[in-house]
Amino acid sequence: MNREPAHDFTSGSPYLTANFAPVEVETTAFDLKVTGSIPAELAGRFLRIGPNPATPPDAASYHWFAATGMAHGLRLRDGKAEWFRSRFVKDAAASTAMGREPIPGPAPQRRDGPVNTNFTRVGDKVYAIVEAGSLPVELDYELESVARSDFDGTLETGFTGHPKFDPVTGEQHALTYEPGEPVRYVSVGRDGRATTKARIDLPHIPLIHDVAFTASFIVVPDLPVTFQPQTARTAFPWLWDESRESRIGLLPRNGDVSRLQWFSAPRCFVFHFVNGTSEVHDFGPGRMTLEPVFVRRPGAVQEDDGWIMSYVYDGNRNLSDVVILDAQDFAGEPIATIHLPVRVPFGFHGGWAADTHLSREAPDAS
Ligand SMILES: [Fe+2]
Repeated sequence: MNREPAHDFTSGSPYLTANFAPVEVETTAFDLKVTGSIPAELAGRFLRIGPNPATPPDAASYHWFAATGMAHGLRLRDGKAEWFRSRFVKDAAASTAMGREPIPGPAPQRRDGPVNTNFTRVGDKVYAIVEAGSLPVELDYELESVARSDFDGTLETGFTGHPKFDPVTGEQHALTYEPGEPVRYVSVGRDGRATTKARIDLPHIPLIHDVAFTASFIVVPDLPVTFQPQTARTAFPWLWDESRESRIGLLPRNGDVSRLQWFSAPRCFVFHFVNGTSEVHDFGPGRMTLEPVFVRRPGAVQEDDGWIMSYVYDGNRNLSDVVILDAQDFAGEPIATIHLPVRVPFGFHGGWAADTHLSREAPDAS
């Protein structure tokens, strides 16, 4: 089922060492051991994605953001952890490395780079997604790559690594960017079709990972990390620009660029927008968590009625667990810990893909 890596991934870039290092093989495991009790209401998959090169990379030019992705998923049902799977997201490099035909898609040899950042649900399908040019990859229920997708021809360019769902309108908001293209504000409807609502021409190409919105505006961060292939020393050509200021744009949600307002901001770079207060849950010595995910209890009335789930790497055992916390007792003991037979490398985003949402009721998988 699993075996130790045969290659030496442990030298060079710090993002190739310890739990940043890739795992070499895809894993399939059934009937995972559980400490505690998995809530019976949890029926679905707890997904996670991150960089995981399919072949040993050149450490000198390696960049964590630019590697082939690997999707991980834990299937829960009836209080049981039925399976855990890890699957490479089959970009061109991964398909070649695995001796497979490239997955089909609308743009062969174009927009076929690594996909390693996030998942989203569009229509009734789950996609692995990435920003800066490459198209989403549709995944089947067991995380196998099915095809590249441009959402039925409605995406003008690549997509984003971090769309946001609007519970009022049911649409997903996205800001897209890539070399040679204006920044785009794209809305994706429940029908799975994308609409480009605005094209924003800028004198440079800023890295824009996240998006925020209000009832009236889309928040457009124009910050001094820009596309600079001439000075990049790794496979990731977005770098800090000392000559550029920071500004935040407020774009009307109808996409009227003539009414886009810019506001100066402190020089900084921001990957994510967040609100509010903080609480701490200590997973114990040597144990480090990836991004936690809130899963609302079906029928919940209070906004924090549900569970916090996360993949937790245990450096003492060099293995990972999935830990489920009661969101209303965040600092308390876990209600369930599912023990995985492998480690899940540190990565980016994930989410809970509930089975009930397969009937198009769901916003997304994150
Ligand atoms: Fe993100």
